[in-house]
Parts: sequence; C-alpha cells; structure tokens
Amino acid sequence: MEYADDSAYGQSAWQSPPDLLTVDGDDLHVWQVDLSAYEVMIQNFRAILSPDEIERADRFIRPVHGHRFSVGRGALRQILARYVSVQPKELVFEYNEHGKPSLAKPNESPFSFNVSHTGDCAVIAVGRHASVGIDIERYRETMEVEKLAQRYFAPEEVSSLMKMKASKRKEAFFRCWSTKEAFIKVVGRGLSIGLSNFEVEMEPARPPCIIKTVDTLATSDTWMCKQLPMGDSIAGVVAVEGNLGELKLYHYID
Ligand SMILES: CC(C)(COP(=O)(O)OP(=O)(O)OC[C@H]1O[C@@H](n2cnc3c(N)ncnc32)[C@H](O)[C@@H]1OP(=O)(O)O)[C@@H](O)C(=O)NCCC(=O)NCCS
Repeated sequence: MEYADDSAYGQSAWQSPPDLLTVDGDDLHVWQVDLSAYEVMIQNFRAILSPDEIERADRFIRPVHGHRFSVGRGALRQILARYVSVQPKELVFEYNEHGKPSLAKPNESPFSFNVSHTGDCAVIAVGRHASVGIDIERYRETMEVEKLAQRYFAPEEVSSLMKMKASKRKEAFFRCWSTKEAFIKVVGRGLSIGLSNFEVEMEPARPPCIIKTVDTLATSDTWMCKQLPMGDSIAGVVAVEGNLGELKLYHYID
C-alpha cells in the first residue's frame, strides 16, 4: 500500500536534486524547504524578491514570519528559475481572484506549481499538470479534532472519524484536513467551494483520494492525490488535475 511504503521511509525519501532538472510526463517534483535556515543569508533572498514581495515580507508583525516568507518566496523563485532557465528575479507571478499564484513571466511556461507552509517547514510542488495543489499541516496536540471535524468536514467524514479508536483520530483528522486543503488548492477557488461540500478518504492507512465532489466540480477521477512522507508530526498531501505519475522529493539547499 502506498501510504505504508511512504511512511516507512519518511524523511529519508527526500534527496538532493540532480544538476539537470527535468519533469517527465505526469511526474511531480516536490521540494522541502527549511524556512528557519539561512538567517545570515536573508539579504540574498530579499535581493531576488519583487517590490511587492518585499513589502509583504515587511508587513509581518513578527520578524520571524517575515523571514520565513522571504526565504520561502526566494526559494520558490530559485527553484522555478531552474526549470524555466531564467534568473530568479526575472520571474513574474500573477494571482487568480482567490490568490492562487502562477507564472506570468516567462509566459507560456509549461509548469504549474503550488506552495504550502506549516511553521518553519515549506513544500513546493512543480509539475506539468493543468493545476497542482499541495498542503502540509503540523499536528496540533491540543486541538479537539472531533469538534473541528463536526464544524468543517462532510457528514460522511465525521462519521468515519467517530468510528475510529480515539488514539487514531488525530492522524486521520490531519490527513483529511491536508487532503481537503490540497484539493481546495488544486481547484484554486479558495474556501468558496466549501469544506463540507466534498468528501475525501478518511482512513490514513489507505492512499488519500477525493471520494465525492459537488456536481459543479466534475467527477472525482479528474483529480489525483498522493501522500507526502513528512515524518511523524506533519501530514502532507499533493493533488493534481489529471494523472499523477511518480513523485520525486528534493531537499532545497542553497
Ligand atoms: C489560502 C488557502 C488556499 C490555503 O491556506 P493555508 O492552508 O493557510 O496556507 P498554505 O501554507 O497551505 O498555503 C499558502 C500558499 O498557497 C498559495 N495560495 C494562496 N491562495 C491560493 C489559492 N486560492 N489556491 C491555491 N493556492 C493558493 C500561495 O502560494 C500561498 O503561499 P504564500 O502565502 O507564500 O504566498 C485557503 O485554503 C485557506 O485559507 N485555508 C484555511 C482553511 C481552514 O481554516 N481550514 C480548516 C480545515 S479544518
């Protein structure tokens, strides 16, 4: 089973990237970035950001959050630049009406991407799919997962969660949350699609998937998901529009 394999190798599945990066067919590359690193190099990251990104970094109240944003956005630029063979600073992002970023320059780039962060960990997915969504969630030990599920999840998901042993519910809740967010992000319409309007696989021992969507979101086989091996305290899922081939997992190292 895919999940059992993934969890077995955990963080060791993440490799150093090859010098020549190519994304074949339906494959997806996922990069993991340590946002707490690079403290002394922060100016190198800021130097490749656009004026609006610098302004956004400076608007964070806590400097640590601005630092994480600069490193995350700088790493995103450096990673994408390698695929499209331009300088990181030359990339221009555009945003849809729900805030989902994509590449405006170079135009006609064949690559789609998506980003997620939780604390000082970020992941960046890059593929040739029509659309990509990624989400990671660090387990919050104090969260009352049953109450939150009842508030946000679909009735079928709540019912599956409540049938599980209490000791299994935290993992199931965060995997479900991550799958739902990855789906929301691949669709790109933000929370307007409603978290309880679609159903995802709740059992963490089975691969994540979208079981049922509302009529307006087409059939569930339009989307494919995979679990990310994030270790014991973070749930992670990627979703693409269309077929999802091999996942290649890389550590970002500057
Ligand atoms: C904005 C949203 C798309 C993701 O938010 P999130 O999970 O808090 O944040 P993540 O770190 O996973 O993703 C943020 C990144 O997604 C991208 N993004 C922003 N809007 C997006 C959208 N509409 N679609 C896809 N990606 C989007 C951006 O690259 C952003 O990175 P940046 O802040 O560095 O620019 C949205 O789904 C949201 O607000 N979710 C929170 C919903 C919630 O409370 N769920 C509870 C479930 S129990």
